[in-house]
Amino acid sequence: MTDRLSPDLDEQAREILRGNDRGGYTVPTDGLYPYQWNWDSAFAAWGFSTFDIDRAWTELETLFSGQWEDGMVPHIVFHKDDPGYFPGPEVWGSGRTPPTSGISQPPVAAILARLIWARDPEAGRDRIAALYPKLLAWHRWWKRDRCGSGVAAVTHPWESGRDNCPDWDIGMAKVDGSNVGEYQRRDTGHVDASMRPRKEDYDRYLAILFFGRDCGWDQREIIRNGPFLMEDPGITFILLRAHEDLAAIGRELGHDVSELEGWAAELRAGVPQLWNPQVQGYDARDLRGDGFAGRVGSAAFLAYLADAATPALDKRMDEIWNRVSYGFPSADPAAEGFDPRRYWRGPSWPVVNSLIALGLQERGHAEAAERLRRETAEVIKKHGFFEYFDPIDGTPCGGDAFTWTAAIWLTWAGAGATDTEGET
Ligand code: GLC
Repeated sequence: MTDRLSPDLDEQAREILRGNDRGGYTVPTDGLYPYQWNWDSAFAAWGFSTFDIDRAWTELETLFSGQWEDGMVPHIVFHKDDPGYFPGPEVWGSGRTPPTSGISQPPVAAILARLIWARDPEAGRDRIAALYPKLLAWHRWWKRDRCGSGVAAVTHPWESGRDNCPDWDIGMAKVDGSNVGEYQRRDTGHVDASMRPRKEDYDRYLAILFFGRDCGWDQREIIRNGPFLMEDPGITFILLRAHEDLAAIGRELGHDVSELEGWAAELRAGVPQLWNPQVQGYDARDLRGDGFAGRVGSAAFLAYLADAATPALDKRMDEIWNRVSYGFPSADPAAEGFDPRRYWRGPSWPVVNSLIALGLQERGHAEAAERLRRETAEVIKKHGFFEYFDPIDGTPCGGDAFTWTAAIWLTWAGAGATDTEGET
């Protein structure tokens, strides 16, 4: 029998969502991230759906108010200017209203919209029907502008959502960051610099951004000549699952979904090209020449979400997971450069855990799914709703009172079998 683990924490989580609400959209956390972020918002909507279904749909609708004509849904929508964040709207130069960034982020919206709709089919029908063509246009953008090699590629590490992950090191090494000039970072004014990306990485992030801005965000030019292009297992699995979920939504609404089914089938056929036998896992690949990244991190295990796991991946999952105590590490602790507290170079991210657990549960790995939920719940109960955690000792890292951590508490981590849980 499942129940809520802790009514107090439930209330705290709801308070965080309400507190980060800026009127129709939610910021990831106050200060460090003062705008609307794409996949954070989809998680926020999922969280809101546990106590305010109307507000959940509004979150997604506001996100799509930033959608471009070509279908792209940007990774940040800058609703109100805030000097506390860099690079802000003037740096991205999208020339749009509302101003936005020029890249996208993991397309989890359709996956979570389907779950939100299931909570209240009556209340959601008109809302999802209105969102459907927008979601479809975004998925078409992914297919056309990012899946040319057979799987999904990213044009900037930030597009992957796993900004600073070692997966991108080989691609980043080729980016020339020497000409970006002077700039003032804001992130290190909010959290400890040892948890954030280094200056030389930041220079390169900006160089990639400037290339996009200077060509007017011309996607063909970015794909052809941009400084960074890597295939991403994380986006590939999320997109594959999202195509299938959007097709299910479309069917329910009475649409012809053959186009979506075709995109999903093509993407599924491309998945084996991401398998790197050398590391026995799904791996990122550099399309600018250097092959595999040689890394297995948490993104590889999103394969469960897309029904693309193999027995070899099951084995790899056990090896990597058994090296830590609090959910999936974003990088393998046995690999060189693992850093348990630095942004995506080792830490465990509750949102990624929630997606992997969803997949594990559906694929018949109920025990592993429950272990992942328990480990994630434990670290949140101990330390609070932080952005991410050291996977070995559970030290809380990054921003506090974080929207998506609160959201996955309400939807997933905080729902447990009370009789088997220890102290709260
Ligand atoms: C960081 C994360 C990204 C997230 C954003 C807001 O940039 O890497 O995934 O969307 O913060 O939380």
